[in-house]
Amino acid sequence: MRLFFAAWPPPGTAAALHEWGEAARQIAGGKLVAEQNIHLTLAFLGEADAATATAAAKRARGARHVLPIEKAHFWRDNDILWVGPRETPPALGALVKSLHLELYRAEFVLDRRPFASHVTLLRKARAPKSLPPLPAAPWPVDEFVLVSSRVSAKGATYEPVARFPL
Ligand code: 2AM
Repeated sequence: MRLFFAAWPPPGTAAALHEWGEAARQIAGGKLVAEQNIHLTLAFLGEADAATATAAAKRARGARHVLPIEKAHFWRDNDILWVGPRETPPALGALVKSLHLELYRAEFVLDRRPFASHVTLLRKARAPKSLPPLPAAPWPVDEFVLVSSRVSAKGATYEPVARFPL
């Protein structure tokens, strides 16, 4: 099973980000992430055992916090347009650190790239010259989720496997 850990936005926040993404797509082109798929990845596992990942995540410690959506950024190396906080909130950084530590202890191999808090909205986009102002999109992080991912010609299908309240 292809697995990752993520924070999911409340429906109103997902709707506001999706609407902004649609406006951004008029400028930058590319493929808009489906509203129900909008998320912030905390750790990407790839093919992995869900029970082992769940046991490790239960040992991770974190506090509830709010994720501010303050900036939009285009990554030239993978043509992704994303939104996220200006700086990773300390509580989010601490949660990710604890989760990664518990995953390493359980012998998962994680990406060597440092964690970057980003919420992908457009894939295969072009560098935008300008973008619309970001919406007010309050995103309380009260839990994180282990998610399975299936990718087909139609796009990604994500399903929650386990939830971890903070
Ligand atoms: P992305 O949005 O920057 O592409 C599900 O694929 C999620 O895991 C996506 O949010 C994706 O980030 C993230 N991810 C992180 N590392 C990945 C990897 N090595 N392969 C695929 N997805 C990865």
